[in-house]
Amino acid sequence: MKASEIRSTFLKFFESKGHQIVASSPVVPGDDPTLLFTNAGMNQFKDVFLGFDKRAYSRATTSQKCIRAGGKHNDLDNVGYTARHHTFFEMLGNFSFGDYFKHDAISFAWELLTEHFKLPKDKLWVTVYSEDDEAYEIWNKVVGVPAERIVRIGDNKGGRYMSDNFWMMGDTGPCGPCTEIFYDHGPDVAGGPPGSPDEDGDRYIEIWNNVFMQFNRTEDGVMHPLPKPSVDTGMGLERITTVLQGKHSNYEIDLFQNLLAAAKNAVDFAAGVTDGGAGCDATSPSLKVIADHIRACSFTIADGVIPSNEGRGYVLRRIARRAIRHGYKLGARAPFFHTLVHPLAVEMGDAYPELRQNADRIFAVLKTEEERFFQTIANGMEILENALAGDTKQVDGETAFKLHDTYGFPVDLTADVCRERGVTVDSAGFDAAMNRQREQARAAGKFKMAAGLAYDGVATAFHGYEHLVCETSKVVAVYVDGTQVEAAGAGDDAVVVLDHTPFYAESGGQVGDSGELRNGTTRVVIEDTVKIQADVFGHQGRVVEGSVKVGDVFTAKVDGERRARIVRNHSATHLMHKALREVLGTHVQQKGSLVTPERTRFDFAHNAPVTDAQIRQIEAIVNAEVLGNAGTVAQLMSIDDAQKTGAMMLFGEKYGETVRVLTIGSTQELCGGTHVKATGDIGLFKIVAESGVAAGVRRIEAVTGEGALAYLQTLEATVNGVAGALKAAPTEVEARVGGLQEQLRALEKEVAALKGRLASSQGDALLAQAVDVGGLKVLAARLEGADAATLRTTMDQLKNKLKTAAIVLAAVDGAKVQIAAGVTADSIGRVKAGELVNFVAGQVGGKGGGKPDMAMAGGTDPSKLSEALASVQGWVAAKV
Ligand code: ALA
Repeated sequence: MKASEIRSTFLKFFESKGHQIVASSPVVPGDDPTLLFTNAGMNQFKDVFLGFDKRAYSRATTSQKCIRAGGKHNDLDNVGYTARHHTFFEMLGNFSFGDYFKHDAISFAWELLTEHFKLPKDKLWVTVYSEDDEAYEIWNKVVGVPAERIVRIGDNKGGRYMSDNFWMMGDTGPCGPCTEIFYDHGPDVAGGPPGSPDEDGDRYIEIWNNVFMQFNRTEDGVMHPLPKPSVDTGMGLERITTVLQGKHSNYEIDLFQNLLAAAKNAVDFAAGVTDGGAGCDATSPSLKVIADHIRACSFTIADGVIPSNEGRGYVLRRIARRAIRHGYKLGARAPFFHTLVHPLAVEMGDAYPELRQNADRIFAVLKTEEERFFQTIANGMEILENALAGDTKQVDGETAFKLHDTYGFPVDLTADVCRERGVTVDSAGFDAAMNRQREQARAAGKFKMAAGLAYDGVATAFHGYEHLVCETSKVVAVYVDGTQVEAAGAGDDAVVVLDHTPFYAESGGQVGDSGELRNGTTRVVIEDTVKIQADVFGHQGRVVEGSVKVGDVFTAKVDGERRARIVRNHSATHLMHKALREVLGTHVQQKGSLVTPERTRFDFAHNAPVTDAQIRQIEAIVNAEVLGNAGTVAQLMSIDDAQKTGAMMLFGEKYGETVRVLTIGSTQELCGGTHVKATGDIGLFKIVAESGVAAGVRRIEAVTGEGALAYLQTLEATVNGVAGALKAAPTEVEARVGGLQEQLRALEKEVAALKGRLASSQGDALLAQAVDVGGLKVLAARLEGADAATLRTTMDQLKNKLKTAAIVLAAVDGAKVQIAAGVTADSIGRVKAGELVNFVAGQVGGKGGGKPDMAMAGGTDPSKLSEALASVQGWVAAKV
């Protein structure tokens, strides 16, 4: 049976048992910031298990794209070393949402495996959680598996519920005891049954996990019973296919054959080995790594991730670079990995059309990443080879850090190379070097930030969503020069912490507020507000009158006009984010943002420049939202409720238990920032710049309100200025400039022709200056106003006329000297143009080269030119 038939047999079997076939969700879980990548079929049903979400069905079945690299379930380090680990794989699953439970789950699994897939019953073993007598009884009494092939496994991983037979999605979320089904590959293969000391061998392979979902684990480690016991199962498509195709390694199944062949070709080619050459062997571990990793990389990029230095992007970069290094090991010295994207799309595009749709984009993203890594890999490998020389047992942390920092070697890549040689990496030393660098970076930024100040006191209550002025803000701490003080006096630059404040402290891309603190005796001008701790705000500014002491009470007043400009830009950013996704696609993900009074700057994943037409479309969408003038709604709710609203969340953001969901126009986003009361407050929205900031990351800058007006007025003034100079109406400017450009081109041509004529007449005048030196006409002269091309044409004319000659022509342009030397063909045996030109150039601070009959040089010292030209005659005389 082919893998594709196994996939469809599975889905159809469960459909016949009343299950809804549901499409795979993306490998990037859109609305779950707790999860790096989709790591199991149940992820998309997490809220259904928790009882937060309801579906029209209570039974479902899927073939889910999964990535297990980084996060709780991480198989990256094992790929290439075992017969069955993958960073990307497909998980077949059936799910019951409070419908059937242990009895049916076990019976379905047994029926499918033994009756449809026809696996011999005596080859199947099962494990159950040691306390799960019910599952044990069903296997033994109902299904009839003999006791010697049922293994009870308890908490074997060092804690309550820490067990091979207790499955958790992550540190939080739905979980429960499980029963696993194993296939016995027979006594020819080494290894022992599950639970035995040799269980890690390849003989007994787990093929299917049936989880009985019973709890929700919260961050504090408490297990809360789920509203309804449910079922979640997972069977790796690659593993079951291996068993059904009578193979031992997942890489031997049909699904991998074309990919391995394509990988071999690509690497051979990049290694300079052509067809039929003795290239790498298709069974090599490195080819398996490449074939596995191209799947993980392509699927993650298809779902919107791009290589970067943090979060998901960094996992992608690590996988890609690990694959590239394996190609390098096989001899590839040029990018090869990206060429596997299209073969993969052919192999898997039927089941996952997103691969075909995005193939060109994936190709381009990987190509850029690969070109970048190929710039440093050779030098990095040389350093690593040196570190591995001799009988080293460990590569030191400093070297691993240098490889990471300067040569782009993720530490697991270094560890992978070391592992091949039986050497370890000093990971504690690596961490120390990494921390030292972070500290240095932090210290360098300190002068600007109040962040990092020591503080131990009450938190700051933020009143700035509703108010711009607080009349009774009390000082709870004062700092001068980074040190906590009792009071700051007039002239001091100080950081003031207040018990409550209307000032917004810089966060989430929005800059901090400015304004002033004032009471009967004192005035402090606040320039910026930053967070000293998550909920402690430092107001940075200068005491201009009086003094500030702990306990003083102030009227704290935000610069309202500046704040208004900030909020317009911030709210417009939300609208623009949504518009970008509508116009460019949902792969657009925020990579960074900065909201200031002047503009909003938004970085996002997208692999091509945004076209003018797309920019106009985005502007139109945002401005339509502005004209809709919908009121902004801010709601506080639990993170779980927020996820249910479908509001936009950012991966890697630390959201607390309670979050703020902002509804602005038709957008919903989790955000702690300050915003307009209604979209109409934004005024005109105008994009002013679009650029690329890194591979696969674009940046858009936009202005709103008076910023947009100022921008347009400046543009208008420029256009009017140009129109005035052209004595034309603004609408005629384009046509007039076009006409002028044409005229200019015609004039340039004419000037070039005139220059040629001028030079040749100068050339005629020069003929008379040629002197006979031993039968050779020698001429060394200056040609006023000539460029390199003119020097060359004049040279040719003079050679024709003088017949047997050695000629030097020079021209001066500012501080630069251009020199041409020519020797007629009949005389190159006597004088070489290259030597002649260098003889002259050497005297004016330059050098050059060319052919024996014609050579060019530059120089930097025009003051020596006359002398140099005068010396030519003597030099030639000495030669002939
Ligand atoms: N969610 C379970 C697993 O991934 C089925 O093993």
